[in-house]
Amino acid sequence: MIAPDEMPIGIFDSGVGGLSVLRHIQLQLPYEHLVYFADSGFAPYGDKPEAVIVARSLAIAEFLLQQGAKALVVACNTATAAAIKGLRERYCSVPVVGVEPGLKPAAAHSKNQLIGVLATDRTLNSTKFNLLREQVSAATGSQFLLQACIGLADQIETGDLQSSVIEALVQSYVAPLIARDVDTLVLGCTHYPFIRPLIESLIERSGKNIQLIDTGEPVARHLARRLAEHGLQRSMGGRVQLTAYTSASPAALDAAFLALLGIPTTARFMAPTQTTFQLG
Ligand code: DGL
Repeated sequence: MIAPDEMPIGIFDSGVGGLSVLRHIQLQLPYEHLVYFADSGFAPYGDKPEAVIVARSLAIAEFLLQQGAKALVVACNTATAAAIKGLRERYCSVPVVGVEPGLKPAAAHSKNQLIGVLATDRTLNSTKFNLLREQVSAATGSQFLLQACIGLADQIETGDLQSSVIEALVQSYVAPLIARDVDTLVLGCTHYPFIRPLIESLIERSGKNIQLIDTGEPVARHLARRLAEHGLQRSMGGRVQLTAYTSASPAALDAAFLALLGIPTTARFMAPTQTTFQLG
């Protein structure tokens, strides 16, 4: 029988965005086995009805737990907003860690309390996000300027991060926020850290000083604390395994791991289809 701490951490996203969280998990928890699921066959999540995202999240969580996952990381802001409550209710004995736009750290950094938020339409219209926004605004007086980045995650999924299409999208979404004088910009989708250099160069050209907020690192730290609380942290020793699954092309996921993180993988195709869960 394998000890519980030897089991992997299950991580998922609509596609490759969650790799921006996985890299922080690897840095923070270098001895942990990881199993990553990219739901690229159903990406993007940002334009899907909430019920679809909930069903996909539950099916993927079930699959990851069948692979022995000792904890789940919802490495997707859109899926966290839609499904984390349902996941925690269904798997109450498993640590389930989500990702949400870093409004609190943004308010703490901002000097003029004018903060831009880049995220999917689905995240920005979710009840969870709007409760957080109201809470942080009330506590800090911050004003959040919300920008839905329609089409941006899909373009990042293509893997061509220098494309003129991505450049034009970034220009159209970020330039108006720069013009409104935000001094802090929240990357509220896990795909966006991969185009951070593009956003930074646009900011640099504007001559403004704008701080970018990405929550990958605090999420990894939070995960480490949750594992420690449950006595689930794997101690040093032995080979560390990284297993990857996708609901689309394994070759494309392998290429993304290599291009984005410099890690060689041999991804497998898997399409969790169980969608008959009842919430609550
Ligand atoms: N990476 C995701 C997020 O953090 C979702 C992008 C998408 O599939 O639309 O929101």
